[in-house]
Amino acid sequence: MSENTGLRSGLTDYGDVGFSEFLRKAFIKGAGYTDEALDRPVVGIINTSSGFNPCHGNVDQLIDAVSRGVMMSGALPIAFPTISIHESFSQPTSMFLRNLMSMDTEEMIRAQPMDAVVLIGGCDKTVPAQLMGAASAGIPAIQLVTGPMLSGGHRGTVVGACTDCRQFWGKYRADEIDQDEIEEVNSRLVGSVGTCTVMGTASTMACVAEAIGAALPESATAPAVTADRMRIAEQTGARAVELAEEGLTLDKVVTAESITNAFRVVHAIGGSTNAVVHLAAIAGRLGYTLDLEAIDTIGRETPVLVDLKPSGEGYMEDFHRAGGLPAVMREISHLLEADALTVTGRTIGEELENARESYDHQVIRTLDNPVAAVGGIAVLRGNLAPKGAILKSSAASKELSEHTGRAVVFENSKDMAERIDSDALDVAADDIIVLKNIGPVGAPGMPEAGYIPIPRKLARAGVKDMVRISDGRMSGTAFGTIVLHVSPESAVGGPLGAVRTGDRIRLSLEERSIELLISDEELATRLEQAVPHVAEGAERGYRKLYVDEVTQAEEGLDFRFLQGVSGKGTAPLAK
Ligand code: FES
Repeated sequence: MSENTGLRSGLTDYGDVGFSEFLRKAFIKGAGYTDEALDRPVVGIINTSSGFNPCHGNVDQLIDAVSRGVMMSGALPIAFPTISIHESFSQPTSMFLRNLMSMDTEEMIRAQPMDAVVLIGGCDKTVPAQLMGAASAGIPAIQLVTGPMLSGGHRGTVVGACTDCRQFWGKYRADEIDQDEIEEVNSRLVGSVGTCTVMGTASTMACVAEAIGAALPESATAPAVTADRMRIAEQTGARAVELAEEGLTLDKVVTAESITNAFRVVHAIGGSTNAVVHLAAIAGRLGYTLDLEAIDTIGRETPVLVDLKPSGEGYMEDFHRAGGLPAVMREISHLLEADALTVTGRTIGEELENARESYDHQVIRTLDNPVAAVGGIAVLRGNLAPKGAILKSSAASKELSEHTGRAVVFENSKDMAERIDSDALDVAADDIIVLKNIGPVGAPGMPEAGYIPIPRKLARAGVKDMVRISDGRMSGTAFGTIVLHVSPESAVGGPLGAVRTGDRIRLSLEERSIELLISDEELATRLEQAVPHVAEGAERGYRKLYVDEVTQAEEGLDFRFLQGVSGKGTAPLAK
């Protein structure tokens, strides 16, 4: 082992290098290591196991399997903890903590002696946090996702988190099912540990990690509790040792070309809108600026081929059985940047030469029978969103995609919670619901409150969808004609803050536009008169750092001081 690798790298500064190494070895020998073990290259394994994170409930087994792969290849595996974030156990929202996890990931990789690192993550924000942190840390890194949970069953039907969680809750709100049934289904929705089994954010980011080249081929879809998942872990550990020898860092893998491939895949799988902010943040760490128009162009060229909930029917285990992501990428290979390098050391084009066709053309469609002819995410502009907004077109109602309606405005989440279920609320099915102040600064943390519920009195009358607009995000497992990520957000003076109940708003998916139908003068006057928003509880600590430093949606909500030096150009690349 050379001077600056393995246990000898990154020595603690005592002013005496020899003593620093002597002391380090003395302490770790207390755990029973031999000199022979300590002389090997070191592969760090990030342990995100947490009792509060059932999506990571298999991490201990994964660490065992990764360690086996590392040792088979002649290196020393050392696991270490970082922050772990679960969607339902993070207050105010997991997104608020993503940057904190990325800082933890970056600094603990940098602070501790390792020649490569395996990033074990899975639940929504963890994979982007790890890729952001590892990209900034600059040592060879490879992603291993925990994998999706098994689907569950309720009264003879297959169900899974969390699209069905929302569907059953919607039925309960509409009095279509009773208290007994909602309690019964609560025990049936999550079949095992692992990440949500629909094409939500976790599944999308697992596919992004594979498509961008940061994870092994075929690694995105294997369920958490399967032998396939453990074998992938072993292979990931073995490959991490080679990465250490080759010095293949993420900046060589995550390029404008591979970011382009990732966006192609997000469209083709009907992926979560959250991928846009996460990819913006990952790209930003490496100096790339997001090109929203290119994302839209790519969407118009890329069909949706994967038939999973929330846009379609199946679950992640169906996707895995049908051939997983390589079968999708093979089908759209003519659209991909074939020369993009992956962590295997080969290009995506080379990897796809061996990829098999889909085994199940109902789940992974062919180009001549897509789920939708064009991609799942549209980028909107207009006087309501000068810096862009997002609509998950694959989950939107066709009849509402071209719609003009009266605005019914809620000033913030609290206002909405207090009034949306009131029988006195003046709202009709063809109105457009606007929710302000749930953006990056406004909430803070841009919660997934953009999935605004249908007002109870309309839900009871059978209304299933309405146009809804906010500066927040939406869970990847949700669905509806929902305009999200409106930028700039209302809390920093964006035009959304100027909307009043009774205004008329026009949405056109065809024209990619979202317009508040008032004059420019009136809009300017209202914005001048707007009362500045003050985020609650942001006087000190991490919340203050967050509110002071967070960027808007198009920059991925990263902190300004964490972004890389820009200048690598824009991504993705439109053909
Ligand atoms: Fe963890 Fe859905 S809650 S992936």
